[in-house]
Amino acid sequence: MFHQKLVPFSKNFLWGSASAAYQVEGAWNEDGKGLSVWDNFVQKPGTTFKNSNGNVAVDHYHRFKEDVALMAEQGLKAYRFSISWSRILPNGKGTINQKGLDFYNELIDELLKYDIEPIVTIYHWDLPQALQDEYNGWESREIIEDFTAYAKILFDAFSDRVRHWVSLNEQNVFIMHGYMLGSHPPAVQNLKRMYEANHIANLANASVIKAFREGGYPGKIGPSFAYTPSYPVDCHPENIIANENMADYSAHFWMDVYVYGRYPKVMLTTLEKMGIAPTILPTDTDLLKQGTPDFMGLNYYQSVTIASNPLDGVSFSGKANYSGEKGTTQEAGMPGLFKMVSNPYLEKTNWDWTIDPNGLRVCLRRISSRYNLPVLITENGLGEFDTLEDGKIHDNERINYLHSHCLAIQEAITDGVEVIGYCTWSFTDLLSWLNGYQKRYGFVYVDRDENSEKELKRYKKDSFYWYQQVIKSNGQSL
Ligand code: NOJ
Repeated sequence: MFHQKLVPFSKNFLWGSASAAYQVEGAWNEDGKGLSVWDNFVQKPGTTFKNSNGNVAVDHYHRFKEDVALMAEQGLKAYRFSISWSRILPNGKGTINQKGLDFYNELIDELLKYDIEPIVTIYHWDLPQALQDEYNGWESREIIEDFTAYAKILFDAFSDRVRHWVSLNEQNVFIMHGYMLGSHPPAVQNLKRMYEANHIANLANASVIKAFREGGYPGKIGPSFAYTPSYPVDCHPENIIANENMADYSAHFWMDVYVYGRYPKVMLTTLEKMGIAPTILPTDTDLLKQGTPDFMGLNYYQSVTIASNPLDGVSFSGKANYSGEKGTTQEAGMPGLFKMVSNPYLEKTNWDWTIDPNGLRVCLRRISSRYNLPVLITENGLGEFDTLEDGKIHDNERINYLHSHCLAIQEAITDGVEVIGYCTWSFTDLLSWLNGYQKRYGFVYVDRDENSEKELKRYKKDSFYWYQQVIKSNGQSL
């Protein structure tokens, strides 16, 4: 690419940060909340690091005012959080729990008091256990109606103050972890069931977006996709095809459905040959096409590098860590399609994830060119073992990571991509689904570990002040 003068961030660029209900709230059984599949899953010994769970998490449910005050001090323009479905509807449907609505009303009002824009995620993995028990959750088409009814309750209650809605968070991750790797609830390992559940999640996503439009609610809505872009390891023709497979398998297989209402032909043919393609009813395509998003939410952490993989080659089975919490699996893949290998040009984090700001620029450009949609970066950040010393946390690695990724965004904007905003993951430290509290992402350190909640005291890390400057200067300090 020729050298280009960087275009500045727009005046209303949303400098934000993010979280998810189960990872921060705690209060798992308070004020009428029903159980979610995560409340249930973590009770089984051995499913998470030291049996860690979100029962208390970082107690955001009780300390949200303190957390929002810290956001205001940092100067955040936006805060992305998710709503716990079973806090609003303890049984997944039916009677509304008013105390659940009250909590999110207060949180939204508190944010607006400081001019922080709330970005609301409707679903961030904590399915009501009642719906899992009743009809196997995402495996039944009944969920389409229930998910839509739940979303409408949120639109009715909050759309007077919320401008950006995220429908499903990382559908590709909760489906693959839940039905292929078996590391998230419902801990199934069955590809046929996975593709069926995934198709139903697509329909539910489209149905919610359609309901949002038909209801005439103000604002914009789109899913957040965990995009892990891939590069071929070299120019050997077989590796090029393997990388094409990976791009379809891991990215277009979801985003093409969101935007065009259809699966990529080659991947669908492959699944049909394997006998694991989803059942697509004639009316499905119609619904999918009526539920196209206003923007693409992008969660970006790292890239992967791809080589060919023989039919008897490596598989994902037994490796419960693809694109998840435990690090990037090297030498795992789909036999006959592709495998992941290491990239000699990229360094890795202490959690074994590649550090690749250029990959973020690649994602932004691809989404913009292939789908012609604005992008809201809904997650990006560095998981580290931070240490608290004399009340301070010197998280230079995080600053370097975020700094390089912000510059990559600016390059993408200069390339012509419309980027609405950037939410780092995460604002406070929070529960890593499988890795407890040792893997930290926040600007704000929360003093607790797997064994003890201590006092859950908050400490500002060095990165807190760094981002404060970035926001204040609208990116000019980068
Ligand atoms: C993906 C998820 O949305 C979030 O819940 C998770 O903790 C982070 N990325 C880090 O893996």
